[in-house]
Formats: sequence, structure tokens, C-alpha cells
Amino acid sequence: MCSCINCFLLCDLPMLCNFFFLNHLSPNFAGKKLVLDVYAFLMQAFVKSHSADGNEQFRQRIGGILQKRIFKAKECPKGFDVELSRLESLLQKALHLASRSRYKEVASAAQNATFWILKIINSKGCSKQELASVVDKFQYMLNDYFSNKKSRLKIGFVKEAVRRNPWVGRELFGFALQKIGSTKAEYRRVQTLELVDCILKSWVGDDVSSASKVLKKHMALLCELMQEILTKMPENKSRRQEVRRFCTRALQTVTRLNLKEKFQKKLSPEAYTLCDAQLGAAFVPFRQ
Ligand SMILES: *[C@@H]1O[C@H](CO)[C@@H](O)[C@H](O)[C@H]1NC(C)=O
Ligand SMILES: *[C@@H]1O[C@H](CO)[C@@H](O)[C@H](O)[C@H]1NC(C)=O
Repeated sequence: MCSCINCFLLCDLPMLCNFFFLNHLSPNFAGKKLVLDVYAFLMQAFVKSHSADGNEQFRQRIGGILQKRIFKAKECPKGFDVELSRLESLLQKALHLASRSRYKEVASAAQNATFWILKIINSKGCSKQELASVVDKFQYMLNDYFSNKKSRLKIGFVKEAVRRNPWVGRELFGFALQKIGSTKAEYRRVQTLELVDCILKSWVGDDVSSASKVLKKHMALLCELMQEILTKMPENKSRRQEVRRFCTRALQTVTRLNLKEKFQKKLSPEAYTLCDAQLGAAFVPFRQ
């Protein structure tokens, strides 16, 4: 029999999992709060199994249970019997692992955990005010990406989160625009442009009135940013394409949300000239 916690996890966990999942899995188990405790426990064990004396077979076992029995389970726990604060704290841990773990598998499991936790949060039908602290956690992770070399955040992960949860993108929009404006490193700027591009894309068919409110609010910032990135065109061809793609998407979104006049009003003469010279056909409808 094992005594230390590590050994306990390594030796007895498979047994425990069998107990939970194979023998005592009632049909509505997934709807119960308990699944969050099991998730938290398994995730911790999965992280631990990657340290020093972790055992490969065991690691795969827990990874498989997390993936198949929890993240991909037919039923996701319903949010109404789970407190938001509990979900926030699990989300914070998952985001930390997703952006800081040096083990790819752990980061990948944490990304999947994030999508799963967001699904539960969505099922609660919270107000915008209540969700502010969820958005804060994403901002915190992005700030870490911009200011700390230790961040291993893959922007592709944030893009996927925004694709699945357009409301997260709406809330991050202004923040991301500001970050692009203030970030020196070209690589990260372009990565963030891709994120904002993805946010704009996620507004197709989404809640149009919320999207248009957000865009209206940040219109001046968007115009300034377009001016700035078109002024400092990157040398690298693929990054240049990314800048043009971004500006084109911004113009399309402005048109789709019926904000053409607002946009034209905010666009400075310098920015107008740059757009006209560099965006070709996409800018034609905006010519005055
Ligand atoms: C996370 O989910 C993706 C897509 O379902 C899957 O390919 C990947 O293996 C999962 N990661 C882990 C660690 O299970
Ligand atoms: C150009 O940018 C892309 C995307 O950021 C990068 O993958 C590639 O290595 C860059 N090429 C050069 C020649 O710097």
C-alpha cells in the first residue's frame, strides 16, 4: 500500500477511476456537481504524472479518462447547480496550465478543459456583469503573453476559445486592439492581429446588435490601429498579407454592421490615404 500522495496518485488512481466511472456511473452522473471534483482531481493527477517519476501507461490512462469520460461526455454538467466562483477558479487554473505548462500534453488537456468549463459557464446564462471576472482571467493570461517571456501561450488556443464563445471575443476586442497598438514585438503584434481578425469573423451570424455596439464603442481605436499598421508595414511578405487581410476584414465587418458612416467619420485623412493606396478593391466602397 502506498503512503505518499504521489504514490497514492500513481498506484491507486486507476482503481479510483474505475470505481467512479465504470462501476458507479449513473446515467445522469454527468449532470451532477461531483463531476467537477473528479475533474479537478484527475487534472491534478495528470499534471503530477508528468513530473519526475511519472509512469507513461498511467499518464495515458488518466489523459484518456479526462478526454473521453469528461470533456467528450455526451452530457456536460449543467451550470445551475454549480457556483460561478467554483467554475472561475477551475478556469483560472486551466488557463494557467494552458499558457505556462512546459508539457505539451498538459497544455493540450488544459485547453480542452477550458472549452469544457466555458460550456458549463455558458449553460448558467449569467449576466454580462457576472461574466466580467471570467473575461478578466483571459485578459490576465494575454497580459502575461505580452509582458512575460515565460508565457507559452499559443494564440491559436485563444482564437479557438473565441470561435466557440463569441461573447468572450466581444469583451476582449477593445483590449486586444490596445495591445496591438502598444506591443513592440512584430511577431506578437501580428499574432494578435490574427486574434482580432478571428473575433471579427466570429461576429458573423452572432448577436448583431451586441457586436455593433462593441464595434461602435471602439471605432476610433480601430481606425488609429489601421493607420498605424498600414504605416509600419512589415518587411515579411506573409505578415504584410496578414495586415491586409485584417484591414479588409475590418472593412467588411464595418459594412456588414451598417457602420460605414461612423467609420468614415473617425478615419483621419492620413489613414484614408493609406487605406486607399494599400487596400485596393476592399476600400472602394469607402471612397469619398
Ligand atoms: C484535446 O482535444 C483534441 C480535440 O478533440 C484532441 O485531439 C487532443 O488529443 C486532446 N488533448 C488531450 C491531452 O487529450
Ligand atoms: C515571415 O512571417 C511568418 C509568420 O509570422 C514566419 O513564420 C516566417 O518565418 C517569416 N519569414 C521570414 C523570412 O522572416
